[in-house]
Amino acid sequence: MNLFATKPLKQMLDEANDVGGEGGHGGALKRTLGPLNLTLLGIGAIIGAGIFSLTGTAAAYYAGPGIVYSFVVGGILCALASLCYAEMAAMIPVAGSAYAYSYATLGEIVAWIIGWDLILEYAFGAVTVSVSWSGYLLSLLKKTLGISLPDPLLMLTQSPWGDLVTLADGHQTHGYWNLPASFIAIVVTAILYRGMRESAIVNNAIVVVKITIVIAFIVLGWSVVSSSNWVGNAAATGLASLVPPEGPSTRAGETITSFGWPGVLTGAGVVFFAYIGFDAVSTTAQECKNPKRDLPIGILASLVVCTILYILVALVLTGVVPYRELGVPDPVAVGIDRIVELRHWSPGAAKAFTFFVKLGALSGLTSVVLVMMMGQTRVIFAMARDGLLPWFSSLHPRFGTPHIATVVTGAFVALCGGLLPMSLVGELVSIGTLLAFVLVCVGVFVLRWTRPEAERPFRVPAYYIVAPAGAIACIWVMYGLPRDTWIRLLVWLVIGFVIYGTYGRRHSRLTAASTKG
Ligand code: ALA
Repeated sequence: MNLFATKPLKQMLDEANDVGGEGGHGGALKRTLGPLNLTLLGIGAIIGAGIFSLTGTAAAYYAGPGIVYSFVVGGILCALASLCYAEMAAMIPVAGSAYAYSYATLGEIVAWIIGWDLILEYAFGAVTVSVSWSGYLLSLLKKTLGISLPDPLLMLTQSPWGDLVTLADGHQTHGYWNLPASFIAIVVTAILYRGMRESAIVNNAIVVVKITIVIAFIVLGWSVVSSSNWVGNAAATGLASLVPPEGPSTRAGETITSFGWPGVLTGAGVVFFAYIGFDAVSTTAQECKNPKRDLPIGILASLVVCTILYILVALVLTGVVPYRELGVPDPVAVGIDRIVELRHWSPGAAKAFTFFVKLGALSGLTSVVLVMMMGQTRVIFAMARDGLLPWFSSLHPRFGTPHIATVVTGAFVALCGGLLPMSLVGELVSIGTLLAFVLVCVGVFVLRWTRPEAERPFRVPAYYIVAPAGAIACIWVMYGLPRDTWIRLLVWLVIGFVIYGTYGRRHSRLTAASTKG
């Protein structure tokens, strides 16, 4: 039994076009997506908790106004990886994304590792963002609408291991369950169950709202920025003056050394989360009308649009609020408050605008949950089709969606969203995604050598530089993540090996075919 057996490209493409094939898995996913839908799906998955929450942490504790450079670094890293994704997605347009690419290039065991690892990215990504959704909902109810929830309901807004809940008498305690986080996971599951076309329509509407509020923030904020806020280091000149000098700073009562250029790089690791999602576009390969042309467009266009918006948001945010005040869970809301104050809006207008922005943030976070969960269902669908997982390859007879994968993913996200705190899952998502990026970059390189003749509708320019540089950049950001996150990644991978050893290896269709042959 060869753990490094690779799945022939032709077989993958045949299976993607006719899923009935051997084993009769019951029909193909429906092809409904064009280039605009794909770009909007990418933006739907990218703009979310990263920009609405983490930007503030990165600016306040690590990079100051130099957060702009952190976004540039994160953007370059993702550009390298996205070019590799675009080549792979156009060449192997099948639902499993990085899992399928690894199966074609590096062998079954690596494919399993990456498929298992993608659960960290997509399912836990959805969990992280659903928790952030819950936080924004509470902020909308309490701070903007002035609604105070009674104690029993308050206890149902936080996980038992999350932030403390402050009760009516001022007493602080742990919550029972994060019900809003579970709620949004269930709503999204219902949409995904219904169909890809319906999901794309919901996503498109949300993305329009989300981009409108981001642009409104940039436009309204730009005219009231105070350039003195951008000076992190008065002793430096030019562009270097954005970066505060390296030195001690306090975070959660702990003294940490941050800022300076090392702080900018740490900030890049933190805001990397904000870029995650463009790769989810590639999981829809079997639902695109013309995947070879449109997948690279969707992946690259969504990343470019978001990178530009992020850099502008970072400039405005640090230009209107002194960076040390940004270490809050809702920095964009703090930015909005300052903008309406500086623009001397009436209290009514200010409140209406804040309400609109928070509603936009909520809907924006919803689309991230939607696309992340969709990516997850497509990856386990692909793994089950290859025999490495049970059940999940079955399609709904009427809606054509991987319904079992959808329900199980929804239940998993709703459960974890109810129980786990954001701090625990967020960094796991980043490390899982970075590992996937590394393997995709390596895969591009390997396939150029082993299958130089294969049709490549999109080719990474100067692949011998871009692919290794992408892999090295991702490994370097992984290296900067905390030790605990590494340990959790290893534990997760060990659980995966146990499942592969006890189920996947025995049921692999590739192994079965080669034994027969
Ligand atoms: N990039 C996505 C977000 O920031 C995961 O929410």
